[in-house]
Amino acid sequence: MIQRDGTCTSLWQDHIPVYQPVNDPDIQTIYDVVIVGGGITGISTALLLQKAGKKCLVVEANNLCFGTSGGTTAHLNTLLDTPYTTIIKNFGKENAQLVATATAEAIDLVRSHIADYGIDCEFQEAPAYLFSQTQEQSEELHEIYEACREVGLDVSYNLSLPVNIEFEKAIEVRGQAKFHPVKYVYGLAKAFEDAGGVILQHTRVNGIEDTDGITVETENGNFRTANLIYATHTPPGINLIHLRVEPWRSYVMAFTIKNKKYAQELVYDMYDPYHYIRSQKIDEKEYMIVGGEDHKTGAIANSEAGFLRLESYIRKHFDVDEILFKWSSQYFEPADGLPYIGHLPGHPGNIFVASGYGGNGMTYSSVAALLLRRMILKGESPYVRLFDPNRIKPIAGFTTFLKHNVDVLKKFIGTWFDRERLEEFAELAPGEAKVVKYDGEKIALYKDEHGELHAINPMCTHMKCSVAWNNVEQTWDCPCHGSRFSFEGKVLTGPADHDLEKIEVKTLVEHD
Ligand code: FES
Repeated sequence: MIQRDGTCTSLWQDHIPVYQPVNDPDIQTIYDVVIVGGGITGISTALLLQKAGKKCLVVEANNLCFGTSGGTTAHLNTLLDTPYTTIIKNFGKENAQLVATATAEAIDLVRSHIADYGIDCEFQEAPAYLFSQTQEQSEELHEIYEACREVGLDVSYNLSLPVNIEFEKAIEVRGQAKFHPVKYVYGLAKAFEDAGGVILQHTRVNGIEDTDGITVETENGNFRTANLIYATHTPPGINLIHLRVEPWRSYVMAFTIKNKKYAQELVYDMYDPYHYIRSQKIDEKEYMIVGGEDHKTGAIANSEAGFLRLESYIRKHFDVDEILFKWSSQYFEPADGLPYIGHLPGHPGNIFVASGYGGNGMTYSSVAALLLRRMILKGESPYVRLFDPNRIKPIAGFTTFLKHNVDVLKKFIGTWFDRERLEEFAELAPGEAKVVKYDGEKIALYKDEHGELHAINPMCTHMKCSVAWNNVEQTWDCPCHGSRFSFEGKVLTGPADHDLEKIEVKTLVEHD
């Protein structure tokens, strides 16, 4: 089974072995493009560029699909999380039409990849239904309906829903789809390697040197490249992007139903946060997948409550046979409703980023792949300005702020805490964790299932926010920019690129 950035197992991870690259990374150390991140964005972009004649290397810190690509629910939409009413308001009608066109082209790209490379990823065309349950929602739904028509979506009102949920009004949007994301990424990865591309898994990037070409420093050697793409949601280090995207978490369950009537369509309610519903057949077995209960990362003390609320919603609306998978996942909301794809702010030359997809990562990953290919090949694209990360305005005092935040503080070097006193003070049961204030210091403590106490400095190594325990995924999550760490403080998700500081705990008996 592939590893993911949390303890829960997603439907997509189960029974899927870790991808085995075939090409030898020792072949060369000089590339046209190095792509950091082996999720759907990284692999899609790498394939397009490799096929266009560029020599590409994908560097992934863990295994392919370790992050959100392994935890998504894989909806392929032109009906987006940010309603077209908002996109028209923020960017104008013409730009909203461009967004609709870009996302339709993205789904076309997925279709053609599947056909061209014979990828067996259970892809299925499926219309989407958006439904209202209150008068206020019905009014909003009508505005969304009008906006969808204005931007050119194939939309109509519908008198029924494919699921048994009471509703007032519903619209149907055609041209959407669903698939198995990990099988799709594996298919692309194989096509990329067949075209001569190189994938390096379990290789963390430690730094880059951006003078006279780019040197990418990794724990498995250095690579030279003309272009660098961060396909890691947010780039490492400190960048304006971090202040313009917000990390959120969403909860998902996959289950079987007694009546075996698995709706094939994509269905969404209009609450905030909303619920999303679809089914998926994997190896001849069908599942309903329902997600929702989203919240800002680190914002709630008990993440398990998200699952409890979701399960109660599911049992209210479905005749559940068995809940087989439950997991949560992280995504990044952009400040103004559209993703940031293009030149990394502060790096106008040849360093690129794709970030802030909201809940539409499966679609925007292909938007990013197409746009970044055009930018690197110097082709014209009407989307360059639309998704330009530099549309975000610099913040007053950002440079000073940077200077004060770049150092990774190690404050517990040479100090240790007494295990027994700490245990008594924290009163943790096995599997529990909390941040405590002890002897004037904040300490993040986790007691594992064997009763072993793990202590770390809760100060995030990115920009010094305090991490919070995620009891669903058994991780320390940073509410500020979405870095996530294992119970031992190991980096799972950037932008942090250093582990949390370990704090030594000893028993006095051993010490004496
Ligand atoms: Fe930025 Fe933690 S992710 S401070």
